[in-house]
Amino acid sequence: MQPFLIAPSILSADFARLGDDVAKVLSAGADVVHFDVMDNHYVPNLTMGPMVCQALRDYGVTAPIDVHLMVEPVDSMVPQFAKAGASIITFHPEASRHIDRTLQLIKEHGCQAGLVFNPATPLSYLDYVMDKIDVVLLMSVNPGFGGQKFIPATLDKLQAARQRITQSGRSIRLEVDGGVNLDNIADIARAGADMFVAGSAIFNTPDYAATIQAMRVELAK
Ligand code: DX5
Ligand code: ZN
Repeated sequence: MQPFLIAPSILSADFARLGDDVAKVLSAGADVVHFDVMDNHYVPNLTMGPMVCQALRDYGVTAPIDVHLMVEPVDSMVPQFAKAGASIITFHPEASRHIDRTLQLIKEHGCQAGLVFNPATPLSYLDYVMDKIDVVLLMSVNPGFGGQKFIPATLDKLQAARQRITQSGRSIRLEVDGGVNLDNIADIARAGADMFVAGSAIFNTPDYAATIQAMRVELAK
């Protein structure tokens, strides 16, 4: 397994002071910036686009930016986010007509590519594209909002996804997103995840460094 990565979801950050809040969470020990893109079409909420990603890069954010596209259609957003400084781009297979083509598009634009699985989306979407994937992202809530409760069935699904990754022999990240907190992060790691998105569990605490450090202690258990 690769080293654990903690990826705060900036959906719960202070949008009026986004650059400062992102800089603060990174200096508190976060590894990756998780960037949730919602279009009020694929999901019932509206967030931010490539301009905001570019603005973070211009502000001096050098950490990897993990762009989670909850948009439909997907393809037109890929070149824009690549240009705006995305490092990883993940999308929901239901939102793309041509999954293989979208994965290729992401790679052609120099980003790492991943598929996102909603709680009830089967892992069989991985069957013929494992060689084109860098990240498997399992949603542990239904996408659209921060601050929801972790869906426990995700733990079995994580184990199944981990098995597929091991069988592939490739160093694919297994990311989990939704309701991750200090109480469940150790169980989630034991089920096979190695990249942890946490929004409210980090940004709704007064001391980000203490929270991230406490998460690392849980992960070491
Ligand atoms: C939900 C988003 C998540 C969300 C996580 O659609 O993809 O990244 O912000 O937030 P928490 O950690 O609060 O569940
Ligand atoms: Zn997300």
